[in-house]
Amino acid sequence: MELTIRRVETQADMDDALSVRRAVFIEEQQVAEEDEIDDADRDGGWRGKVVQMVAYDDGRPVATGRLLHENEDIAHIGRVAVLAEHRKSGCGRALMLALQDAARERGYRQITLAAQLHAIPFYERLGYTARGDVFLDTNIEHRWMDLSI
Ligand code: COA
Repeated sequence: MELTIRRVETQADMDDALSVRRAVFIEEQQVAEEDEIDDADRDGGWRGKVVQMVAYDDGRPVATGRLLHENEDIAHIGRVAVLAEHRKSGCGRALMLALQDAARERGYRQITLAAQLHAIPFYERLGYTARGDVFLDTNIEHRWMDLSI
């Protein structure tokens, strides 16, 4: 596998990110499109403080995730998705490391994210710690997780 990860800079790049999210969240996990896609994804909302990343395998978009500004210390990572057939081969980890590098470069001190329960071990391997009770978002169970960077 030849993985290249880059930041979304054009609408065509954003369409690549959304193609992965549609397959994973909308089709596989049955999240409603209006819950999945928000202002950070529309009309150039992926510029400025929002950082969206896409991982390409041999030119094909296979993974994505985004970094949102929460406050000057804290960035929020979300919408982390790897196409089913590309899982368990390091794409998710490589994408997270790219998002974390982007957070560090922007001066954030901490990353927070809402982890689906099945993904907690994946984030724990990257150093994240779970916090608080289980909560429902779009009917999927989550817990908050944090990482100091
Ligand atoms: N349970 C336990 N460990 C897991 C895991 C899981 N579900 N998924 C990955 N890991 C481990 C891997 O074994 C690997 O461990 P290692 O470093 O000891 O070898 C490490 O985490 C990195 O795995 P990687 O191959 O980079 O992860 P991935 O490409 O399979 O991506 C997800 C992981 C969660 C992003 C992917 O399964 C996915 O897209 N799921 C559907 C969408 C989703 O739920 N996203 C998360 C929303 S919070």
